[in-house]
Amino acid sequence: MDTIVAKPTEQVIEKACEILRNGDIVAIPTETVYGLAGDASNADAIKKIFTAKGRPQDNPLIVHISNMDMLNKVVSQVSQDAMKLANAFWPGPLTIIMPKSKYICDETCAGLDSVGVRMPSNEIARKIIEISQIPFAAPSANISGRPSPTTAEDVFADMNGKISLIIDGGECSAGVESTVVSCLNDTPIILRPGVITKEQMELVLGHNVEIAKEVLNGVNKDSKVLSPGMKYKHYSPNADITIVKGTLDNFAKYVNGIKDNDVYIMCFDGENEKFVHPSISYGPIDQPQIQTHKLFSVLRQLDRLGAKVVYARCPDTNGVALAVYNRLIRAAGFKIIDV
Ligand code: TXA
Ligand code: MG
Repeated sequence: MDTIVAKPTEQVIEKACEILRNGDIVAIPTETVYGLAGDASNADAIKKIFTAKGRPQDNPLIVHISNMDMLNKVVSQVSQDAMKLANAFWPGPLTIIMPKSKYICDETCAGLDSVGVRMPSNEIARKIIEISQIPFAAPSANISGRPSPTTAEDVFADMNGKISLIIDGGECSAGVESTVVSCLNDTPIILRPGVITKEQMELVLGHNVEIAKEVLNGVNKDSKVLSPGMKYKHYSPNADITIVKGTLDNFAKYVNGIKDNDVYIMCFDGENEKFVHPSISYGPIDQPQIQTHKLFSVLRQLDRLGAKVVYARCPDTNGVALAVYNRLIRAAGFKIIDV
């Protein structure tokens, strides 16, 4: 199959809608990362998404809507908390898990009776939903296990030959996937951190929001988890990444003592001169919003450079930085050392 990369003209957007109506799949930009979209009510379309990504069958997809009427179509119940969060953060990078409606096919939710829903703020994504009137399911448009794509070129690298159209909407503004929060129980629980934080949600709700323990830790492959996506090794470039915790000086002393070739360093801005190995920075140490924006593109850049072994400076674990930490520990397969 030929894969076309096209700018979002009216014609191209109409083409994307036609692809969705025909039960096919199309890659589209969102404000978080690029998504691979298919009609959330059409089992055949959803199977095509799983096949193109090589995605494990038990990992459910997120459904994207463009207005509140559509919310009532895709869920069977909206709790008070869910409504408050939707009103505060939609359109935007927040996915809320709610009980699913019959409209959503079982394949979309991998057999669960809940569904993750979000209203993207990206204009192109919204137009496609508005014009087609199809709430689409869209996971990140990468091959399963690879870093999420934040440009059309990243999508092309993973999806060339597998889908007919990639809409090029430029670089994604957030750069990491949406915050996923489950509102199925009394206390909302964050299953995946993103640029919308626990603190922001608590301010809106006026009560506590939990963070699932899997956000910070590895998960046993066979264990039962709230969010199946947390079980898998994720966001991995080909290189073997180790996160090294400690002061900049201790970090530099440690990595400079490693004599292997093909070692790369992932550091914060302004630190590059400290290292004997080549290094790439992923943002200022105190600006996690920039780190989220750069993280996945730096991981993909390391692949293009042929990096075999990477040592990374450790991000913070509070606020927006938790989103960076959560992705990086998975990219590193949970290898963290203290120096
Ligand atoms: O920003 C995003 O959310 C992007 C863009 C394209 O919208 N999409 C995305 O989808 O990141 P994906 O499939 O890569 O990640 C979805 C995550 C997975 O970790 C999955 O396990 C979790 O959401 N998830 C989806 N539905 C769920 C459900 N019903 N219960 C628990 N976890 C769910
Ligand atoms: Mg993904």
